[in-house]
Amino acid sequence: MTSTELARQPLAHRIRQKIKQGMGPWGVFLEGFIRNPVMVGSIVPSSRFTINRMLSKVDWANTKLFVEYGPGVGTFCQPVLDRLPRDGMLIVIDTNPMFIDYLRRTISDSRFVAVNGSAADVEEIVRAHGHEKADYVLSGLPFSTLPKGVAPAIASATYRVIRKGGAFLVYQFRPKARSYMAPHFKRIDDAIEPINVPPCFMWWGWKDED
Ligand SMILES: C[S@@+](CC[C@H](N)C(=O)[O-])C[C@H]1O[C@@H](n2cnc3c(N)ncnc32)[C@H](O)[C@@H]1O
Repeated sequence: MTSTELARQPLAHRIRQKIKQGMGPWGVFLEGFIRNPVMVGSIVPSSRFTINRMLSKVDWANTKLFVEYGPGVGTFCQPVLDRLPRDGMLIVIDTNPMFIDYLRRTISDSRFVAVNGSAADVEEIVRAHGHEKADYVLSGLPFSTLPKGVAPAIASATYRVIRKGGAFLVYQFRPKARSYMAPHFKRIDDAIEPINVPPCFMWWGWKDED
């Protein structure tokens, strides 16, 4: 928004816009949370300790397609792009159009695709972008507060879309998310990252067979 456009807005709106601009991605994330607390599920983006630890188990040399659910303002996007091979693709899926619009405006990388949709539709989304399977899927979704039936549907679609040898990477503030992974992923590694607000649980569900 230009300063002339900003000056035409009512005072309260102008103050909100100024605060949001000053806070950068944190402001966009906070606004997303205020508008839809149940779907966003967190007031602060993940810490760099969470990001580095979560991504440390990925075999990047053999990653062609990396999918992320619930990217928010893109806390994980640049770290994933920094590690992804040149011919790889990162597809991020978020139900919040405000976050998708923000990501499209701020990330310019030909390997990056931002989709406004639900993680439950991951198989169609992956096929629409020329892939049969994903190597890795990362989720920051608030599993325990999603509408009834959505979390189990996302977990089974995710298992189907991941290739043999790939993994489902999940981080969450509540231990519940593991119970959605367990019916599908027989081998699950876990950890807790204390340097995050709040500290978070992490799981890596490995797909050992089709
Ligand atoms: C806790 S925020 C994730 C924050 C971000 N990944 C980070 O690490 O800072 C959860 C995100 O999940 C999104 N979301 C909620 N339900 C979804 C669904 N069914 N499919 C895709 N995204 C969803 C929300 O819009 C929000 O952006």
